[in-house]
Amino acid sequence: MSGPVHFAVADGVAIVTIDNPPVNVTSHAVRQGLAAALDAAEAAGVSRVVLTGAGKTFIAGADAREFAAAPVEPHLPDIVRRIETFPAPVVAAINGAALGGGLEIALACRARIAAPGATLGLPEVTLGIVPGAGGTQRLPRLVGLGPALSLIGEGRIIQAQEAETMGLVDAIATDPVASARTIPISARPATGALPAPQPDAEAIKAARQQAARRSPGQIAPLKAIDLIEAATRLPLDEGLALERETFLDLKTSDQAAALRHVFFAERSAMAQGKAGGRDIASAVVVGGGNMGAGIAYALVGLGISVALVENDAPGVERARANVARLYADAVKRGKTTAEAAAAEQATRLSFHEGYGALPPADFAIEAVFEDMEVKRQVFSALDRALPETTILATNTSYLDVNRIAEGLRHPGRFLGLHFFSPAHVMKLLEVIRARTTSAETLATALRLAGRLRKIPVLAGVCDGFIGNRILTRYRQTCDIMLLEGALPAQVDQVLRGFGMAMGPYEVQDLSGLDIAYANRKRLGWRTKDGFRYIPIADRIVEETGRLGRKTSAGWYDYEGGKASPSAQIDAIVAEESGRAGITRRSFPDEEIVARAVTAMVEEGFRILEEGIAANPADIDLVMIHGYAFPRWRGGPMHYAGRLGLPEILRRIETFEAQDKLSWGVPDLLRRAVRDGLGPEDLKRG
Ligand code: NAI
Repeated sequence: MSGPVHFAVADGVAIVTIDNPPVNVTSHAVRQGLAAALDAAEAAGVSRVVLTGAGKTFIAGADAREFAAAPVEPHLPDIVRRIETFPAPVVAAINGAALGGGLEIALACRARIAAPGATLGLPEVTLGIVPGAGGTQRLPRLVGLGPALSLIGEGRIIQAQEAETMGLVDAIATDPVASARTIPISARPATGALPAPQPDAEAIKAARQQAARRSPGQIAPLKAIDLIEAATRLPLDEGLALERETFLDLKTSDQAAALRHVFFAERSAMAQGKAGGRDIASAVVVGGGNMGAGIAYALVGLGISVALVENDAPGVERARANVARLYADAVKRGKTTAEAAAAEQATRLSFHEGYGALPPADFAIEAVFEDMEVKRQVFSALDRALPETTILATNTSYLDVNRIAEGLRHPGRFLGLHFFSPAHVMKLLEVIRARTTSAETLATALRLAGRLRKIPVLAGVCDGFIGNRILTRYRQTCDIMLLEGALPAQVDQVLRGFGMAMGPYEVQDLSGLDIAYANRKRLGWRTKDGFRYIPIADRIVEETGRLGRKTSAGWYDYEGGKASPSAQIDAIVAEESGRAGITRRSFPDEEIVARAVTAMVEEGFRILEEGIAANPADIDLVMIHGYAFPRWRGGPMHYAGRLGLPEILRRIETFEAQDKLSWGVPDLLRRAVRDGLGPEDLKRG
């Protein structure tokens, strides 16, 4: 049998092997191949069928390329049904990952044998859908309500060991095919013939509450829970029909489209790390503060030798303490042992006061204070201290990367790597291409990003790059709404309702008002041409000393850690409205969302137009992974496309009519609307 499914018979047992590299997805050809293999097995009158995958995967799920298309026969539920009712028992030899449709196939088998390293899961909800080939009906019959709620409702992926404990797999074996051939199964009923799981209203309620907390605004997890609940009271066929209907319904939903968009964007961003460059073995990190310590810790974890540089002895001591804290935390969370942590630090991490005794290194990352002169001095020292082949990177948040590079002997090896805090946790990495950055330097940095398992996004040089530039614009827009009549608590609540993890004022209270204040000062906001300066935040810092949670007062009052609106802030806001001659008015919630999100989109179009980002999807990734924009809305650019760019244009024109200084239609947007294009059509290169 040719094609992606192989068929062989030995000693009366059919071995059916799915061989659809790289990860054996259930593409149309695989479904056809499975149907043909089952026909052949039936014709051969075999006593048993063993189903397995070639390579390292059993079946990793559906074919992403078929996600958005209409289903084509044979459908997966039909294959699954055929397996379950096959005249001879079918046994799954789960040699590697069995995910989504792959696990649904395995569930329909009479028994499941997993390799020790296999992973299993039904992660459909993370793509805005529910399992569509029986997962929600068979899994609870097999393992009970609780484990099914956790696996399907959360889209959790588990290891073979846990799967065995919950009864999802029958045994673990290093040669699952050999075991699958011989495991006794005569008395075992098919999964679908097992009795319905016991109802448990409390467990369902708790799962719903948890889903609402964990993934607010998302439909799929709640639908999945409904389906699992239905399994407790509906006969299998009715449950399956309901599941299929829900699946087809969700598949074409806005949320599924958004989550698919993000999935593909992440995949192509991460693929950049595999496209060349060289592997680095040693690195220098300058500055062991919040960011530098996290970066050093992440690099050491990859097996890279790291020399951490501070200016003076107290700096070195602080850096040591910062790194030690990260290790202590990892030990506490069971990610490593105290012994392994100590050994790792002893062999691969050294601390240095100044540059005198620095070993040569492949890569250097600077994370010192956000100050142009300090940074330039650091790079001039690195230029002298390190070989001319060492790649030099700055972690600046806003500063002009081209200026930092001036004066380097070999500026081709310089670039920006903008990590997010905490640097060892956050997946986003803005990779900033300076005017002089060479292709080789970029490729090596992207390769490092890949090893760090980051999502790298390429950005050009401008104030704040992609993310902080949009953040600045977003906050400015919210401040203007304060001036015109909104209050911080309303803005926060409404934007949380839209799906942001936190509102803009809550975030500022968390990170400290002084940080943004220093930045505004550096950028000269007060006197910047063509810019509407809103003094509220500056007055809070200068006149009240309210710096956020760390001073127990910021945009909010904090009593026992609990935030409540502040009369003092409301008074400053009202005073500034008066001073600007504005009669305060009430803001409908929709207007707050429309203004805040449209501001992000307008800035996104400018960023594209200027070539700072090459792809609207990159902007979406930055806002989702760096600034907690709701993933299920697909990021601001995808969201704009779903709303329709003509609507975005109309909004900007309306806002511009009221406030010419703050709003304006980017040419790129006007052209896209004229040509009937969506954001996805604006990708370059
Ligand atoms: P930090 O204040 O925690 O750490 C800075 C460290 O650099 C301190 O340990 C200081 O002793 C050391 N340092 C200062 N001058 C030095 C010099 N000349 N030589 C060697 N060491 C020196 O600051 P943080 O938050 O780690 O920020 C560092 C850089 O990373 C800044 O450019 C910042 O804009 C950027 N960044 C910060 C993010 C954040 O969320 N905190 C996120 C992304 C970038």
